[in-house]
Amino acid sequence: MRNLLSIADLTNDEIEHIFELADSAPKLGADNPATGQIMATLFYEPSTRTRLSFESAMHRLGGAVITCPDMKASSAAKGESLADTAKVVSSYADVLVVRHYWDGAVQAMAEHADVPVINAGDGSREHPTQTLCDLYTLRKEKGEIRGLTVVVCGDLKNGRTIHSLVFALARFGANVVTLAANGMELPQYVLERLEREYGYSLAPVASDDLTGVVTETDALYLTPKQPHQLALFTQLDAAMQTRLSTMVSGLRYDAFYMTRKQKERMKEGTTGGSYPTIGPKFLKEERFKDTVVMHPLPRVDELSPEVDKDRRGIYFKQAAYGVPVRMALLKFLFEQRDAKKTTAKKNANSYESPERLGPQCTNGNCVTVTEPRSTRRRFDLLSGGPSGALLLACSYCNHRFRVQFVGNVRSKHYCGYDIALADTVKDWFKKKELAIFDSIKEAEELGYEPYKSGPQRIIMDESEIQNALREMSQEILRDCQDPDRLLILGIRTKGSYLAQRVAAELEVDQKRRIEVGEIDIYGSADEIRRISSAYEDSPPISLKDREITLVDDVIYTGRTVKSALSIIFKAGRPQSVRLAVLIDRGHREVPVKPTYVGKHIPSSERERVRVKLREAERDEKDKVVIYSLISPAEARAERVG
Ligand code: NCD
Repeated sequence: MRNLLSIADLTNDEIEHIFELADSAPKLGADNPATGQIMATLFYEPSTRTRLSFESAMHRLGGAVITCPDMKASSAAKGESLADTAKVVSSYADVLVVRHYWDGAVQAMAEHADVPVINAGDGSREHPTQTLCDLYTLRKEKGEIRGLTVVVCGDLKNGRTIHSLVFALARFGANVVTLAANGMELPQYVLERLEREYGYSLAPVASDDLTGVVTETDALYLTPKQPHQLALFTQLDAAMQTRLSTMVSGLRYDAFYMTRKQKERMKEGTTGGSYPTIGPKFLKEERFKDTVVMHPLPRVDELSPEVDKDRRGIYFKQAAYGVPVRMALLKFLFEQRDAKKTTAKKNANSYESPERLGPQCTNGNCVTVTEPRSTRRRFDLLSGGPSGALLLACSYCNHRFRVQFVGNVRSKHYCGYDIALADTVKDWFKKKELAIFDSIKEAEELGYEPYKSGPQRIIMDESEIQNALREMSQEILRDCQDPDRLLILGIRTKGSYLAQRVAAELEVDQKRRIEVGEIDIYGSADEIRRISSAYEDSPPISLKDREITLVDDVIYTGRTVKSALSIIFKAGRPQSVRLAVLIDRGHREVPVKPTYVGKHIPSSERERVRVKLREAERDEKDKVVIYSLISPAEARAERVG
């Protein structure tokens, strides 16, 4: 049975096939292919276009529609689970069209339904049928999608139409330029997936070219197979900046895709700030003379009325294509069902804990968190994250987070995950012996005991650490052109503590406040934020033209820094970014060079360097220790012996 939950559920060929069907929609209807079929529309969130165009499409195919006019008036209000609703409604209809405010909710329902389920928008995750309409519109207007450059604007963080669209554009080989409203950039998990699955790389461009007409924010250029490597330079040099700007100013912009601010998905009090708009200025620019303006609608005030009257404003046409495209999609899904083809791909990386408790998704709006009873804690296991981290990506919402503790189901031992365990863990995973825990408490509750490690050696004590931080602070000041622009950003969590200490040193020296913030490279919400709660109501930290010093405790592979840089460049164009680390372990997978180093400690993969800080460890003084990891196999041999 075929569902449509994500745009990734359709191949490019299938999408082309659906478009061909849509091209002959009047004929499709004449054959009444849906006679005797019933579609149920379950919308837990408001909708005009999506719902009505689905219902219209079904009627035009000769089928019938049942609906619940208001899900608040359904059994959901009495506490019925998504699983039960899906099961029950499956026996009344042949296809379900569902919209829900939780990320992954439609997938949860699909797992319990006995008929195909179509995602009509889930939380801020995806909206694949809108993307079909968007691609169809682009294809109609521009002939082909490959090679087009599409500028996506507005709320790229919460806009689900955007997430499905950028994946699809990447697959069809289009270039994507992002112009986000401040603080509403594409989420890092979306960018990482673009990189991992489609080989897209991202280049920050100080593109006055675009920002002049639309907004104050900077642009990012996402493009296939052109390694920009910019994210690897900690010092933005002028030549590189010029090269990128030239690259972008030579671009032909084929479409602007505008979106509304998704207020309903934002925390209260965070909806302020300027928002990009398209108006007369855009229309007058010669270089946009063939640039169409699209919008999934509803709009609020992002598009001025002048655009409606211009031939380039094609959003009403885009909405009208909703019917033929959805007719084609339904016809396609019915064909698939009748052909009884099962195309469900077996995912080799799929992980579910063999234990009763398992890791939990960190996205608070994920259906696995909001309604665990209708879901299973299922993930994709991804290796090779920053610092060689092992990552889990939630199968429902795609947010990813880092594995903290791993254990072996047979030996019932656990330990903190470390890059040196990569092969062992791969082996356990293959044998289905891998347990993953969020905390030591969880592991111990399940009866796991810790693996042992070798003896520890102190390589930096409290005063050495303090001296190193003081020295680094002085160097930071020496290199800084304007202390007013200085921003100290720590990489969460130990980097944040160190960043605050560096800022404190600087404040004593400068007798003024130094702005300090943190970057959460695994965050599912704001990735760059202020540390102190005293600033909760302040606007987001501005990175524009700042002199940033990024702070972390240890640098090894360099991938953590690479992720942090990509988050920084996504959020704004700083004047410079320098890197301060307490320990440089040598060995690099990506060419990042720290500007300031407390101590060089070349060490091997089997060794573990740990920075212990009083902010994090109870009853401990600051120190840096080194120890060898005893492989779980050795530990076992030792116990037996
Ligand atoms: C969008 C949605 O609901 O995600 N609208 C739509 O389906 N046409 C976009 C929005 O609500 O802004």
